[in-house]
Amino acid sequence: MALIVWREEYVTGISEMDQQHKVLLEMINDLYEIVRDRKGDEALSDIVAKLSGYCQEHLDREESLLEEYSYPGLDEQRKNHGEFTDKLATLTAQMEADKETMAPEVYKFLRHWWLGHIVSIDKHYGPFLNKKGVN
Ligand SMILES: [Fe+2]
Repeated sequence: MALIVWREEYVTGISEMDQQHKVLLEMINDLYEIVRDRKGDEALSDIVAKLSGYCQEHLDREESLLEEYSYPGLDEQRKNHGEFTDKLATLTAQMEADKETMAPEVYKFLRHWWLGHIVSIDKHYGPFLNKKGVN
């Protein structure tokens, strides 16, 4: 694994969401470096707490934007976001009990989930919102 590099395929076309996705991926990169360089338990717990908080803020903001414009895929988004939040909470709790084993798993989950979610689910709201005048 290596650091995530922002790619054109991650762009949804909604600048606020793209900006937040960039921040999230940067934070996932920070987690990667902390795991790779063994920067210690405190740094690990801090970044995971920061990430969890930012993920929640972003998902809430995304849902309220989609709700505001009556996006037809909102239920699917809510379901996906809920599953993500549950899984992250489970992994985070496991990580606190066994950092050595679970920190790389938290990283892998975050990386895999976010890249997949942005490309296969989030990108669909871009054209829809663009038509409503949101860019
Ligand atoms: Fe989403």
